[in-house]
Amino acid sequence: MRAWQIEGAFGLDRLRMVDTPSEPVLRGQVRLAMRAVGLNYRDLMMVQGHYNPRQPLPLTPCSDGVGEVVEVGEDVDARWLGRRVSPIFAQGWRSGEPTREKLRTTLGGPLQGTLREEVVCDVGGVVEVPDYLSDAEAATLGCAGVTAWHAVVEQGAVRAGDVVLCLGTGGVSVFAMQFARMMGAEVIMTSSSDAKLERVKELGATRVLNYRETPAWGRAVKEMTEGRGVDVVVEVGGAGTLQESVDAVRVGGTIALIGVLAGGMQKVNVVPILMQNIRVQGVIVGDGEMFERMNRALAQHGLRPVIDRVVGFEDAVEAFEVMKGGRHLGKVCVAIKG
Ligand SMILES: NC(=O)c1ccc[n+]([C@@H]2O[C@H](COP(=O)([O-])OP(=O)(O)OC[C@H]3O[C@@H](n4cnc5c(N)ncnc54)[C@H](OP(=O)(O)O)[C@@H]3O)[C@@H](O)[C@H]2O)c1
Repeated sequence: MRAWQIEGAFGLDRLRMVDTPSEPVLRGQVRLAMRAVGLNYRDLMMVQGHYNPRQPLPLTPCSDGVGEVVEVGEDVDARWLGRRVSPIFAQGWRSGEPTREKLRTTLGGPLQGTLREEVVCDVGGVVEVPDYLSDAEAATLGCAGVTAWHAVVEQGAVRAGDVVLCLGTGGVSVFAMQFARMMGAEVIMTSSSDAKLERVKELGATRVLNYRETPAWGRAVKEMTEGRGVDVVVEVGGAGTLQESVDAVRVGGTIALIGVLAGGMQKVNVVPILMQNIRVQGVIVGDGEMFERMNRALAQHGLRPVIDRVVGFEDAVEAFEVMKGGRHLGKVCVAIKG
């Protein structure tokens, strides 16, 4: 079985494709023949050693993917055979509140990830994916899709008539835009690129703003909403963008804090957060039941994930390079079996 591994030390130049023995399928487990993998920013950080420098190596990166069940262990219903499934991000977080233990079961660190030809995992750690999606589309759901779903639908409780602000045009933000539109909300989307803003307008964003050209975009967004502010911010920038998000959100609105693209540590004036009853809600992906609810919604609406490009298994390093360069819009995927 071929697998990509970070070997010896962190760094994109330390990614190697290796031949490793197939793992046995134990009681309660399934073997997936992987068909495609979706990359997330976290995977890039993991490979570069920026996510968890103490992560033991070698490690196969990535958490998203889709595969076909080709073998079932003892006590697993044989009807699973042939089904197309995705592993859930935190293998032990099927439902309920997250706990430290559940969050220690994430794929692509500390557990071995999905960028390999086979994955063996518990049957409770997989979710069936909608039939109408291509393999690459289905491979984007587990982390990026579920995170956006969790932020917009479950935590944000977005309703028709709301206004949602999505920062940047990466995987999570484009999914968040799609889910907000599905719920009947307007979406203001930001980007550093006018060309990307044109594209997200075609994809459904109602209004757009270039955050490079308008550094005080928080106030600009508030003006776009006649001074009311947005109901939910999908905050992927972190500490470096939080102050602007606070300016953009309405009194009593929610900032779903997801990423740290603009840094994890910076001074923030917290006074408006309390004076305006703003909810800053951390979001860590989501559980298996959220994944299933999201899949039902996807199927009902025929929603398709936005894929920037799909590269071959041998070219996985190129996929990481694209992500590092920020050239993509939506998702970058790796095809494993065509
Ligand atoms: N908490 C969780 O469970 C969770 C789950 C998934 C992802 N995340 C985090 O969320 C973030 C996004 O992940 P992703 O996989 O969607 O990344 P991605 O696909 O690589 O998206 C990156 C995009 O974000 C935009 N961006 C970069 N710096 C920005 C800034 N300062 N302000 C606004 N936008 C900025 C850029 O968009 P433009 O090119 O349009 O400017 C860039 O292309 C990462 O920090 C990731 O670690 C967290």
